[in-house]
Amino acid sequence: MYKFTDRRGAIPRLLFATRVAFDEIIQRYAIAGTIAVREKFVRGAAAAGNESEKTMANKSLAKGPSDTCVLVTGGAGFIGSHTCVELLNRGYRVVVLDDLSNSSEVALDRVRTITGIDDDRLAFYEASILDREALDRVFTENDIDAIIHFAGFKAVGESVQKPLEYYWNNVAGTLVLCEAARDHGCKNLVFSSSATVYGEPEFIPITEDCPKHDATNPYGQTKSMLEQVLTDLYVGDNEWNVVLLRYFNPIGAHESGLIGEDPKGIPNNLLPYVAQVAVGKLACVGVFGDDYPTSDGTGVRDYIHVVDLARGHVAALDWMGGKVGTGAANTLGTIAGEPADDGTRRGVGIFNLGTGTGSSVLDVVHAFERACGKELPYEVKPRRAGDIAENYAACDKARDELGWIAEYDLDRMCADSWRWQSQNPNGYSTAAPIA
Ligand code: WQD
Repeated sequence: MYKFTDRRGAIPRLLFATRVAFDEIIQRYAIAGTIAVREKFVRGAAAAGNESEKTMANKSLAKGPSDTCVLVTGGAGFIGSHTCVELLNRGYRVVVLDDLSNSSEVALDRVRTITGIDDDRLAFYEASILDREALDRVFTENDIDAIIHFAGFKAVGESVQKPLEYYWNNVAGTLVLCEAARDHGCKNLVFSSSATVYGEPEFIPITEDCPKHDATNPYGQTKSMLEQVLTDLYVGDNEWNVVLLRYFNPIGAHESGLIGEDPKGIPNNLLPYVAQVAVGKLACVGVFGDDYPTSDGTGVRDYIHVVDLARGHVAALDWMGGKVGTGAANTLGTIAGEPADDGTRRGVGIFNLGTGTGSSVLDVVHAFERACGKELPYEVKPRRAGDIAENYAACDKARDELGWIAEYDLDRMCADSWRWQSQNPNGYSTAAPIA
């Protein structure tokens, strides 16, 4: 594990790197204009043999997992650590970059325990995606073939209070990451996006054709903006190979109970809050509104097991390598580029990752009661600002193109979540380091 403690000079480098990145994106955007114009531009650039585009080749994913190295930013976090488990179990080499601002290095120790891997097939760098020097070192010391990008601040409420920090960390950080990746010849990126980009959905179940609407908070805006940035990277350089995965509501934990969701402070999200009531850390579940037009009046969401979600990322890598699906651009925003000679995909693939089933707040409370074997106190409170009544996914595209479907139901999600919470009542903070 490598730690970067020298932060001297990081900000000036960062400012320079970010300005360059922003200038470049703005310049591309100015040239490109609309998507239609952009596609003409891309064909034009390719036809013109734009040297700067053609010289920066991309890493090929037309090879097996044991020959493929994946950089997982935010890999010590909730979804990131579960994705590391799935990648390692499939034989990938994994490099984690995480600043540990909202995660714990203990999670990576647990990943080693679960997978039985204690060699350099799992490397860790403690650094921010804003730190270009750290990124250069990661790419120089490891032959990174693809990136799965989780790193980012993700608390909806906090983002309203701290917009600058969210845009800086999530947007500027991703620009620095993409520039470093491109400079090191790696243009294969899976992005952790969110169903939040649909805003108040025009229809449910939500398909990838559902128009995007303004997110109701800066966190959601950063996801929507970054989807556009990553799309424009492809439009400006058709060697990019991008997948945008729109998560619904990830919950649950690995069946071992060794890794799980460990939010800092009082949980904003429903499931960790319910779990902390069940384990006695909190007194009562607040149900935010029971007057929505839903089956029981409480909010309905598409909860997906975090292990199913992690497996969706592995499927996305297979898709990017041209190993599954057709690569057809069959929904809004997806762009099917010309595949590389070795069959590696190019373009922008967009997939919803959910179960296709909506569950209400009370469904979750009662499922958790079944999991923990006790009644959980709850109290109906006023609606939470910014909440929508209902959303759940249509997941046909992920099934047909990625060959992926969610396997686990709400009871399994709650049973696994309860095992993690009851074995780790204070998350990783008081966990004894693995001997
Ligand atoms: C779920 C339901 C609440 C807490 C957010 C982000 C989304 C994604 C998942 C990252 C709603 C109700 C909640 C509580 C409650 N995050 N609720 N009492 O808001 O659907 O989605 O997290 O990608 O981007 O927007 O999740 O768990 O906060 O709420 O009644 O204490 O539970 O009203 O109906 P949400 P949530």
